[in-house]
Formats: sequence, structure tokens, C-alpha cells
Amino acid sequence: MKVTIVGAGAVGASCAEYIAIKNFASEVVLIDIKEDYAEGKAMDLMQTASLLGFDTKITGSTNDYSKTANSDIAVITSGVPRKPGMTREELIGINADIVKSVSESLLEHSPNVTLIVVSNPMDTMTYLVHKTTKLPKNKIIGMGGALDSARFKYRISEALDCPSSDVDGMVIGGHSDTGMVPLTRLATRNSVPVSEFLSEDRINQISEDTKVGGATLTKMLGTSAWYAPGAAVSSLVQAIACDQKKMFPCSALLEGEYGLNDLCIGVPVILGKDGIEKIVEVELDEAEKAKLKESASGVSKTNDLLEVK
Ligand code: 2OP
Repeated sequence: MKVTIVGAGAVGASCAEYIAIKNFASEVVLIDIKEDYAEGKAMDLMQTASLLGFDTKITGSTNDYSKTANSDIAVITSGVPRKPGMTREELIGINADIVKSVSESLLEHSPNVTLIVVSNPMDTMTYLVHKTTKLPKNKIIGMGGALDSARFKYRISEALDCPSSDVDGMVIGGHSDTGMVPLTRLATRNSVPVSEFLSEDRINQISEDTKVGGATLTKMLGTSAWYAPGAAVSSLVQAIACDQKKMFPCSALLEGEYGLNDLCIGVPVILGKDGIEKIVEVELDEAEKAKLKESASGVSKTNDLLEVK
């Protein structure tokens, strides 16, 4: 199983580290445009192999896509991250061209690759990859909801003072500060609805904190977060690589599902060897449907800024 990660920055390198530690991939190729940067990160990571006990071979390349040839899965993290006070959507002007050229370079050497898009504005970048490559739609996955759901579960576990492993919850909708839809109605603590433990106000606060989870960290760190994004991507890679049939909220191209068309937005999907193997249409209540529809119109507005419509 060969995995390429484009962008050896904090998110890409964290993803490589988590994939290696989980030890399910034979090879991880880190690629970056900065001279020797991916090679250095790969070497540093490989020097943890004897300490962390993994056999995955991590290599780095300075923009030589021949080294990514025959990748099974490729993760696109390249582009600029946002700075404090910026929205993800403000990155579109710079990141759209980068994502377009990176996906073309990947496909040139790995025509059957499954692509996972991380670069922001992620839903629109995922849509751009659909519009500019001939990949089947099941092989193009946007990573946002897995991260947002992890933040949602963190906020719930914080409020309940319980282990995150006791918490289940999912965030659907756009991966944006205003477009996320945390499904608070369905969130549970060990199968018990969280509404049994928390007031409506507290649950609403958790929902709001989740939506700005990325911006909160960007303000604290001076740049976008990387540990949780890297871990979220590695979970999607593992689900595909190991054919786990695991359900995650991912940005998927909708063609009528949830009453939405011609956009990529976070919905529950089953991930396995064929990428998005199924889009799961969960029963939403009227308020959730309205929030998802509003989120979709926000994503479509950002998509309209692309020149590929
Ligand atoms: C985040 O929410 C980078 O969009 C990513 O942290």
C-alpha cells in the first residue's frame, strides 16, 4: 500500500507520522516544493522507526512526482494555511491553482489513485478536483467532517468530564466557521443522548465552539492546527487502505442526495477499498435539513469563485 502526501508542512508530516505509527502502509512518500524539506521530514520520521516500532518506509521528494508513481492513495495538503482572523474561503485564490496542478501531477503518475483533499477551502477544493480530473467520483474525498467531529467529541467530553472514547457525535455540512452542522440531537455518551446530561444552552455552546474549533486554534497558534487534522486524514487513509467499511462524514460530490446537487459537502459516507463506497442518507429533522441547505448555499457561493463551473 503506497500513500503519497503532497505538502510536507505540519499537517502533511503529522499525517505521515500517524500513518507510519499505525503501520498499515508499506510506503509513504512526502513531496513538497521546498528544496530538501520533504526529504528532511522523511528522514527525521524514519529515525523514529526503531523507537516507535513501525516498518513503513517514508521517503521525501522535492517536487519530483515520478517518486509518487503507482500510489494507491494520495493526500493533498499543499497550499497556504490561514492566518488568525482569516476565513478558509479567503485562501481560494492561492490554493485553487496549487490543488489543480498537484492533482494533475499525481494522476499523471498514478491514474487509479484515490485522492483525499485537505487544502482549504476544502469543500470547494474537492469540487475543483472533480471538475478538473477524470477520476470517478468515489475516488475523490474531502477531509473536513472527520476533523470537525473529533473537535465536537472533544467539546462534549470536556463538558461531561468523560473520556472521548465514551462519546459519539458527527458534524456534517461545509467545513467552514459558519457552515458546519454538529448533529447535537444524535450525539451520545455511551449510547445515552447527551441531552440527558447537558442543558440545551450548554449543548448549543458546544455546537458553536465546534464550528470555530479551527479558528480558535489558529488564533492560539498563529497558524492552522495540524495534529488533529493530520490524525483525521490518517484515519480516512486507513479506512480505505484496510477496506474497513468505516463511516465518516466526508466532503462528497452530491447528485441528489440530501436534496443537493453539483457540490461537495460533508455527509456520512462509508469508506473502503473503493473510496466512497456509499453515501449514507441519515434521517434529519427539519431544523437539521434547513441548516444543511443553508450550508450548501454557502459552499456553492464559494464554488462560484472558481473558473471551472
Ligand atoms: C482546520 O479546521 C486546517 O481546516 C483545518 O484546522
